[in-house]
Amino acid sequence: MTKNVDFHPACKLFPKLNDSDLQELAEDIKANGLQNPIVLLDGEILDGRNRFAACKLAGVDPQFKNWDGEGSPVEWIISQNLKRRHLTPSQKAVVAFELLPLLEKEAKQRQRLSKGRGKKGAQECATFSSSGKSSEAAGRIARSSPRNVEMVKEVHSKAPELIEKIRSGDLNVQEGSRLAKLPAGKRANLLRQIEQGDNGSKMPHVRELVGTGRKSLESYSTPPHVTEALLTRESFRGNVLEPCCGDGAMVEVIEENGHQVVPSDIATGHDFFEMTESVPNIVTNPPFSVSQEFVEHAKKIATNKIAMLLQLSFLETVARYPLFQDRTFPLKVVYVFCRRLKFGNTPQHQSAPMAIAWFVWHKQHEGGATLDWIE
Ligand SMILES: C[S@@+](CC[C@H](N)C(=O)[O-])C[C@H]1O[C@@H](n2cnc3c(N)ncnc32)[C@H](O)[C@@H]1O
Repeated sequence: MTKNVDFHPACKLFPKLNDSDLQELAEDIKANGLQNPIVLLDGEILDGRNRFAACKLAGVDPQFKNWDGEGSPVEWIISQNLKRRHLTPSQKAVVAFELLPLLEKEAKQRQRLSKGRGKKGAQECATFSSSGKSSEAAGRIARSSPRNVEMVKEVHSKAPELIEKIRSGDLNVQEGSRLAKLPAGKRANLLRQIEQGDNGSKMPHVRELVGTGRKSLESYSTPPHVTEALLTRESFRGNVLEPCCGDGAMVEVIEENGHQVVPSDIATGHDFFEMTESVPNIVTNPPFSVSQEFVEHAKKIATNKIAMLLQLSFLETVARYPLFQDRTFPLKVVYVFCRRLKFGNTPQHQSAPMAIAWFVWHKQHEGGATLDWIE
């Protein structure tokens, strides 16, 4: 029988597998054995919380090994999990926020160890704190934007009960921040309604409940590979405005590709339709219910390129015909995704598969638009 083992606080930073994924892992372990031993530090599980739970479920004795790495075990576990799991920017921000006290504890331990070892010893034991403020270091280690970490901090101070919901992907940081600002009674009431919602309808439901007056904010975040696919095909000269940035799923990828991005969103008080200052490029995944209005407004303020992720049916309708005929800001190309895409923060909250394409308008484009496919 599998005995109980304590968990290191760092391995609790990450969301647990949902029931069906855990069941799948348990079945795999039953059939093929545990491929990677669970890693212990000072007798506690540092890495392998889900594998441990799956072994229990499968009735298989888990294999353990002691952590034998160098440097910070906390940084190690973070990098392992970021490599293995797809976490949304909001989930990474929770990791970064909760990482802070762990990093500080490690730093103190190292300082104690270095005592009596002189300046050289202290240098050898230098930690994250030597490379900047601990909150910046936490953001860097968890690859999270300072903006999102600040929002999580604010949520934690006003409504700590929402942190679990962000970690699990039920809410993104912006929704959490909006809920956190409500009076406690109203918030508790909304949370109860969200929890009672059926799987899959939770996210639209919460958006309607805490929305900004529109029926739904449609804030499903874009999987990173979708933005990558655009950036390997299109270059953007100058800054890029992401006017519906949500929790920054697209911003992250655009920045990683070397662009300066200006992120904004109605959830943080910036209504795209009120922006009048010109920008070189606009790249976004707008709410589909107002996508035509987004393209029309983007054409008024962009000076170089506009790339919008839209449903394939955007090609239709008499109302949209002028958007494609206009020669002052012509359509350059439509990149159609061969596979239908699902949007959503976690497998439990995903949309139905949708036919999607990148639509790119380029001010300097000459000739007709082309059609291309993304596999
Ligand atoms: C489909 S999500 C896209 C989020 C992000 N671009 C991504 O791809 O992960 C749409 C976003 O549009 C924002 N939004 C809705 N109406 C807006 C408006 N008028 N101005 C700016 N942002 C808006 C919502 O808050 C939401 O975050």
